[in-house]
Amino acid sequence: MMRRAFVCLIAAIFGSATCVAETSPPPIVIKFSHVAAPQAHKSKGAERFKALAEEYTNGRVRIELFPNSQLYKDKEELEALQLGAVEMLAPSLSKFGPLGIKAFEVFDIPYLFRTTAELARITEGPIGAEILQQLEPKGIVGLGYWNNGFKSLSANTPLRQPDDLLGLKVRIQSSRVIEEQMTALGALPQVLAFSEAYQALSSGVVDGTENPPSNFYNQKMFEVQRHATLTDHGFLGYAVIVNRDFWTRLPVDIRDAIKRAVSESTAFANAEAEKENNDALAAMIKSGKTTFHVPSSEELEDWQAALFPVRARMAQRIGADLLRRIEAELARPPS
Ligand code: LMR
Repeated sequence: MMRRAFVCLIAAIFGSATCVAETSPPPIVIKFSHVAAPQAHKSKGAERFKALAEEYTNGRVRIELFPNSQLYKDKEELEALQLGAVEMLAPSLSKFGPLGIKAFEVFDIPYLFRTTAELARITEGPIGAEILQQLEPKGIVGLGYWNNGFKSLSANTPLRQPDDLLGLKVRIQSSRVIEEQMTALGALPQVLAFSEAYQALSSGVVDGTENPPSNFYNQKMFEVQRHATLTDHGFLGYAVIVNRDFWTRLPVDIRDAIKRAVSESTAFANAEAEKENNDALAAMIKSGKTTFHVPSSEELEDWQAALFPVRARMAQRIGADLLRRIEAELARPPS
């Protein structure tokens, strides 16, 4: 204290810079990388998280945001996090299988979740927390889940019924469950990084893909896909994750402030996601570049029937017990 007061007194005579340098240590920098577009709701969630985390830590933490795969693509970003080259990410839940954490792929099971309220019963409850805990042996801590929304299917030919995908090459994320889903439809799945999807669609390397409306719009996929069907067959969401060693070295009060910032930005990001998907769909319909088909209830039953076997086929991989517990939770009347 004495020394600081002395330095500040000297600084008051010669200017304040020395005083500030002596009293405030440099902020802890958290590099937060992700693959979504700067205008995407994931970016807006990350910006809100940055503002809250910096506020709640009184500037002791500085969040640096790197959207749009500008630092790393899908696979590289997880490796970079594990190596400590970046501290935070928000990858899609469909991208953890290659790390050996197959439980996340339960979120890819077609038609398991019908609404975001159903999802919240898992992502905001003990089952969601248990799944996040599986990240720890991999050197990662999971801080929460952010929603995007429900996926549509797209191609350059109409997709009225499951058979319309027969023989089409489709870009997918690195999830075995999504691979099985496309195989069940007779399509030929190809895992490609998100940053490569537009190019692959526009050059004809693949014929079709799946994503919620916001991603089709932000990545301009609608400009190179003439047809899409609002099948809502699966969910896309994200895990907000941090490097474990970095996290455990942080002072407890900083960790608490960051947890609070994640939790508050989650509510914001989820609300933005819903709005963004609605706005993106309206903008794409208006553009006239993609024709969006809303399936009739009979057509929806056909999609559900074609995709239902995926659940049983993938139960072993993701954990039959986990699947049963989720089904039981979803079957319970909401409290
Ligand atoms: C994709 O790779 O299709 C998306 O999950 C990317 C994202 O993060 O929204």
